[in-house]
Amino acid sequence: MDKAIKLDGRLSRCAEFVRDGARVADIGTDHAYLPVYLALNGRIKSAIAADINKKPLESGAETINRFGVSDIVKTRLSDGLAEIECSECDDVVIAGMGGELICSIISNAEWLKNSEKRLILQPMTRAEILRKYLYKNGFEILREQAAEGGGRIYTVMLVRYCAKSRELTAAQSYIGRLGFESELDRAYIRGVAASLEKKRDGLAAGGDIESSAAVSEIAVEINRLLQGVKNDEDK
Ligand SMILES: C[S@@+](CC[C@H](N)C(=O)[O-])C[C@H]1O[C@@H](n2cnc3c(N)ncnc32)[C@H](O)[C@@H]1O
Repeated sequence: MDKAIKLDGRLSRCAEFVRDGARVADIGTDHAYLPVYLALNGRIKSAIAADINKKPLESGAETINRFGVSDIVKTRLSDGLAEIECSECDDVVIAGMGGELICSIISNAEWLKNSEKRLILQPMTRAEILRKYLYKNGFEILREQAAEGGGRIYTVMLVRYCAKSRELTAAQSYIGRLGFESELDRAYIRGVAASLEKKRDGLAAGGDIESSAAVSEIAVEINRLLQGVKNDEDK
């Protein structure tokens, strides 16, 4: 039986955000590396490794058996949180999916609107849509940090329901709670600014000057924030 499992930076960050002793639901678990790692390290009480597809769930079951944690981690076939009860988990991880799919999974589980629960969210794309959705629907980001995986930089958010709805500005929706304090956070934000500049140029080349100007404004604001941090460091 294997005794240790190594996560990449992206899944390690997700693991870091899980509360000690929590009952975890890992939605879209695939290989189940995250819940198995948490179980092996004595970090959690229990975990449901859930996936919408049978094949990934079989691969998850294989990992669970290989590491001998079947008493703590159980697999479950589930579309999002549809087959998971509110009373079964404290912390819900949704990692490795697009931001829009994560929004739809959250919106289909009304019971997540509970300040005792924590959501650990790691969008692969469209993080700005997810952040806007969260704040509009009464959630808040408690912590957010960038993490590396497969040569790319992603963001990981720790979220809870606070019952207060808020509209984010465009720049806020692209940066969220990333704190600028780590080089990885800054590299992520630089990447966001670069992709907005690319979008700005594409829109301008296609003749959509108005949309290009709107995107340009967001990129300028983000670069201004980055420059402010650089100036403070240079002092
Ligand atoms: C790229 S894998 C991510 C695996 C792991 N969470 C990670 O971050 O490394 C995405 C997984 O999400 C599953 N998935 C996609 N839509 C889902 C849904 N609505 N509910 C549950 N699982 C879903 C897929 O079957 C796939 O196994």
